[in-house]
Amino acid sequence: MSFGFRRQKETAGPQSRVQPASIIAVASGKGGVGKTFLSTALAGALAKAGRRTLLVDGDLGLANVDVHLGIAPETDLAAVIAGWVELEHAVTPVSGGVAEGGFDVLPGRSGSGAMAALPQEEVARLAAGLTALALQYDHVLVDLAAGLETNVMRLARSADRTLVVVTDDPASMTDAYAFIKVMKGYAPSVQPIIVINQADNRQRGRQTYEAIAKACQTFLGFRPPLAGIVTRDPNVREALRNQIPIMERWSTTRAAVDAAQIAESLIRGWELPTSDEDRPRA
Ligand SMILES: Nc1ncnc2c1ncn2[C@@H]1O[C@H](COP(=O)(O)OP(=O)(O)OP(=O)(O)O)[C@@H](O)[C@H]1O
Ligand SMILES: [Mg+2]
Repeated sequence: MSFGFRRQKETAGPQSRVQPASIIAVASGKGGVGKTFLSTALAGALAKAGRRTLLVDGDLGLANVDVHLGIAPETDLAAVIAGWVELEHAVTPVSGGVAEGGFDVLPGRSGSGAMAALPQEEVARLAAGLTALALQYDHVLVDLAAGLETNVMRLARSADRTLVVVTDDPASMTDAYAFIKVMKGYAPSVQPIIVINQADNRQRGRQTYEAIAKACQTFLGFRPPLAGIVTRDPNVREALRNQIPIMERWSTTRAAVDAAQIAESLIRGWELPTSDEDRPRA
């Protein structure tokens, strides 16, 4: 594996920064709740707002950020792990990449047994490589796999914050609570923040948030803040079916507007409120 790191001016990427971007992992516990959709939508919204953004496919076993975005990367994290390319050279531009107002992606590889069973020291080196690469960006998003497997938790631990994606499905709520509980023990310094996805409406989304926040308050002694509520929107499926980033063709559809609002909050770096009603409105 090669995580050698050279100054970015030798590559097509953005200029080096003094302060590294804060790394935000996107997690859920339960699968299929919308982590990858939200990761790609947030990356697109941050890029549209002029922020240098890197999206990392941290789903080591079943990577599919490339599928969501309709890109065919020439290289990926599996090639980095195998030592064929350096981490920074696996960076793939989306919509022109950071240099042209798009964002950058570190793609994964789906179905690689070696990636799925990455040993601890390799995950640690990957995390260290991402931290170094974060110097080049304003925001780094890491789309994680579902579940509580050790490598998921290790990647989550290397982030500054974890966006925990939850739907109103009771299994999603239970699994998100389990994720937050395990993270509290495993990486107490990583702040969990809730995103409600696929909400029928804001009121229902709010109820889902309140239920999970109350469970955390009662049993874990803290109330995770709410990043925002993303509406269930048929155009999400349409974007995925066409493999076109939602912010490219459907930027005014409800779910895209909701995701853009969360991106704005990330940019402002506001103190995250504990309820949707407290959120500043754009
Ligand atoms: N806001 C939304 N409105 C409508 N459909 C959505 C929304 N968010 C996600 N979906 C749908 O949910 C499905 C799963 O989305 P996605 O692949 O992003 O989930 P995931 O959490 O990354 O899954 P996995 O755990 O397998 O990685 C997709 O078919 C997508 O169309
Ligand atoms: Mg996914």
